[in-house]
Amino acid sequence: MEPIEWRDGKVRFLDQTQLPAREITTETDDPLVIVEAIRTLAIRGAPLIGIAAAYAVALAAVPPVAAGKPPGTAADRVRGAMELLAGTRPTAVNLFSALGRMKETLDRCAGPAEIAPRLLETARAIHAEDAAMCAAIGRFGAGLLPADATVITHCNAGALATGGIGTALGVITTASSLGKIRRVYVGETRPLFQGARLTAWELSGSGIDVTVMTDSSAPYLMIKERVDAVIIGADRIAANGDVANKIGSYALARAAADHGIPFYVAAPTTTIDPSLPEGGAIPIEVRAAEELTFSGTGRIVPGGASVWTPAFDVTPHEYVTAIVTENGVNRPPYSFHAEDGGRPGGGGK
Ligand code: MRU
Repeated sequence: MEPIEWRDGKVRFLDQTQLPAREITTETDDPLVIVEAIRTLAIRGAPLIGIAAAYAVALAAVPPVAAGKPPGTAADRVRGAMELLAGTRPTAVNLFSALGRMKETLDRCAGPAEIAPRLLETARAIHAEDAAMCAAIGRFGAGLLPADATVITHCNAGALATGGIGTALGVITTASSLGKIRRVYVGETRPLFQGARLTAWELSGSGIDVTVMTDSSAPYLMIKERVDAVIIGADRIAANGDVANKIGSYALARAAADHGIPFYVAAPTTTIDPSLPEGGAIPIEVRAAEELTFSGTGRIVPGGASVWTPAFDVTPHEYVTAIVTENGVNRPPYSFHAEDGGRPGGGGK
């Protein structure tokens, strides 16, 4: 199932907050619905956030037919949508690289009639390019894994998070198609369970042996069993190879280093932010307290306790064995430049 598609002037997307219990698709021509979907993680995963934002900008350019759509010129509506989208999630740089590209397209339009078709063309290109990048990452990454591999992944860096087969999961499914994967372990990924809900759903749907564990089980697993690799996606990679990804990635990297297990990061170059020299400069999103204090509708933290809810952490480059992009396998020392990735800047809040 495609996590997002443009069909007949509307965007259809899968509500990932409902998986695996329900496969609910929402169809909209309202960019504000996409803004909200990104905020609530109905649409999530760095590359998919960028693709969705691009489609939302394309929707904003279409002349309003329904009451309630914001008035103004196409260019005004597009700029307004871009501002709202830029405020949704600060860490994944793909959002800002996609918005940057949409803005360049807007700036190149010769007149108002060009805006809607040209923006849609760019959004479609961003989507198609991501699919192609995932396929290439899958091929390069699969080459890193030994035969009969047991791997650990974290969060969800699969088809649900991208325009194609996924990044870390694209590597795993490509390696599996070559007969190289024995078993995949995935941390449940607190607090929102993207590993338990989404990665387990994708892998079991592909017939791959997947075992869900609590996030804190990984170091013990490394003692108990042979683990051949840890492979994760990324939300933003600084010029020196420091990697922001879902909270818990850093602990996994440290445990992998202690056990001599390679720690691979798979990401398209649109996730690289060469404008940030190191990971300390990456803005880290803090999520709403309720995502931790409640499990479903039940309160699990007493009202008197404070909570801390960073959505991401930064793994220092010295723990990263290789960074796989669509261009190949990068090994340390990492030194990414503008030509290696995304568009500089963005989201530096
Ligand atoms: O909060 P999320 O679910 O958007 O976080 C997603 C991740 O951390 C992924 O690992 C990352 O975006 C890469 S997705 C290919």
